[in-house]
Amino acid sequence: MKIEALHCWPSWPRYGELEQVEVARVVSTNQIYADREVVEFEHAFSDYQESKYSVGVGNATQGLHLALAAAGIGQGDEVIVTPCSWISSASAVLMQNSIPIFVDIEGSTLGLNPELIERAITKNTKAIILVHLLGYPAQVEKIQEIAKSYGLILIEDGSHAPGATVNGRKVGTFGDLGVFSLHQRKAISTGDGGVICTNNEDLASKLRRLRSFGDEELSYNYRMTEFSAVLGKIGLKNLDLDNNQRIAAAHQLANLLSGKGWVKVRLTPENQRGVYHAIALEFDLPTTICSRILTTLLELKLPVRKLGGPLNRHPHFAKTMEPARGYPWLHSNYTGYMRDHSYHDLDLPNAYKFTDGRLIELYAHPGTEEKHLVELAGLLEHIVHQESN
Ligand SMILES: Cc1ncc(COP(=O)(O)O)c(C=O)c1O
Repeated sequence: MKIEALHCWPSWPRYGELEQVEVARVVSTNQIYADREVVEFEHAFSDYQESKYSVGVGNATQGLHLALAAAGIGQGDEVIVTPCSWISSASAVLMQNSIPIFVDIEGSTLGLNPELIERAITKNTKAIILVHLLGYPAQVEKIQEIAKSYGLILIEDGSHAPGATVNGRKVGTFGDLGVFSLHQRKAISTGDGGVICTNNEDLASKLRRLRSFGDEELSYNYRMTEFSAVLGKIGLKNLDLDNNQRIAAAHQLANLLSGKGWVKVRLTPENQRGVYHAIALEFDLPTTICSRILTTLLELKLPVRKLGGPLNRHPHFAKTMEPARGYPWLHSNYTGYMRDHSYHDLDLPNAYKFTDGRLIELYAHPGTEEKHLVELAGLLEHIVHQESN
């Protein structure tokens, strides 16, 4: 096989003439920080989500922080988080001087394991942040029930999953608050941007106060720009069609690789619409071979990467560079579980397993065609054959 002859994979984002015209239009108004366009984007996002309120922010890291702050989560409070995500899903908790409690993911969804959540709840627990990882929905209905029965705030990080549904309902609307990243690499791509949706009027107005120098309490400048909002409106209009292409690519690749014992293309169950921010390729091969597969694919400039994490072993928790405000789990008013346990040594077998290099994320952006997938399937077969002999 001549592997240097691969077709070039579509890149993301794909801004076109409309984006250029709209950004230029915003510049021509001389009003580029949060104004009319942001309000319009917020309305459009609420309509799409079927949620009552949406609040645009500068990015999802700010969104997660603001969500916790608006919900009144603070010093000494424990927040249950996943070890498999981008660091913001856990570091936002530190920004509120609260304590992240890592709970393992389940193999079936890659999201938080509801049973383990229940076991991790203590008198200090105030909130849960779940992540719909790579666009595969977590068991959000079960987790919502748990949150309700223990009186906990539920925040959904839907950064990888705008447009995903569970039993027909959009992710981000099950929790008290749903947070989405509109970063350049995400499905709604605005450079930097974020949005929080909620059905709770009090939370929505608190989010708005905290977002932009509210007079009464400590608040922030976490505003969205008009540029981000116009790009967001266009991205939102294209979202369903773009997601359909990602979904079709995942199914095509699953067909092409079906029956290969050494790899599984993860698909979502019937009652869900997964949106395949990235397709999870799970290899049943030694990690050394997986690492060579990844290196070869990257050398060929294919859009892949190893699943990141586990977050509990991120330097933020390794006590190498203490922030000026200290470590919240060592504050004198905190006597809970993490006071005398090491983040590094937590018992999170699935998180360690899925981040050991055997799960490779493949970004089949809109525009990916059958020829790309056929070539990739052949290439994988070729590498595996070579490496196994
Ligand atoms: C799951 C998840 N949550 C939050 C974030 C943070 O998003 P932002 O870059 O908009 O702050 C990211 C970014 O990659 C992410 O992947």
